[in-house]
Amino acid sequence: MRLHTSPASPFGRKVAVVLHETGLWPRVERRDASLSPIAPDAAVCAANPLGKIPCLELDDGSALYDSRVICEYLDGLHPGPKLFPADGPSRFAALRLQALADGMLDTAVGLRYETFLRPEPLRWTDWIAAQKLKLTRALDRLEQECEGFAQRIDIGTLAIACALGYLDFRFADDRWRDGRPRLAAFEAKIAERPSLAATRPG
Ligand code: BEZ
Repeated sequence: MRLHTSPASPFGRKVAVVLHETGLWPRVERRDASLSPIAPDAAVCAANPLGKIPCLELDDGSALYDSRVICEYLDGLHPGPKLFPADGPSRFAALRLQALADGMLDTAVGLRYETFLRPEPLRWTDWIAAQKLKLTRALDRLEQECEGFAQRIDIGTLAIACALGYLDFRFADDRWRDGRPRLAAFEAKIAERPSLAATRPG
């Protein structure tokens, strides 16, 4: 299998964390793509018409994307404890948390493009403010519900750890920990896992 990814991509990090947690890295060749929203990578586009990473090329020549599909596929390849609960309320709790984390990342990556790549005269301040508010709401909700997250290792809690890690990486000045002691404690605890320590960006 060949993984198109990038060290700075938080979605690529989520897949890398799953590869660590499941012990599957030795079966995967890693390829770091060089791309931006306006400069796609030809090899990524050949495998994924959306031109997005992460993208996992399988040995039969087919390709999987996005990170959610890749992570669930990988979770089916190992005999250890599953990161995607098989069924019932715990499955949907994990999937919902992953959706929240991925939504936070879509928002944060969009903000990064808007504030870093987009020429200053073209920036849309109302849009930037609305995206920041979305992140604030998500972080406040997580502060309310994160009790016990550190004891629950699944795709949901790992994805939240990746989302918080990306905020630290690209938006450290926004100080998401301020006023959110429970979420900060969860992040400090889960960040000790070798899978997250080995993939920390920056
Ligand atoms: C970043 O540099 O923040 C980034 C890189 C790849 C994908 C998304 C974000």
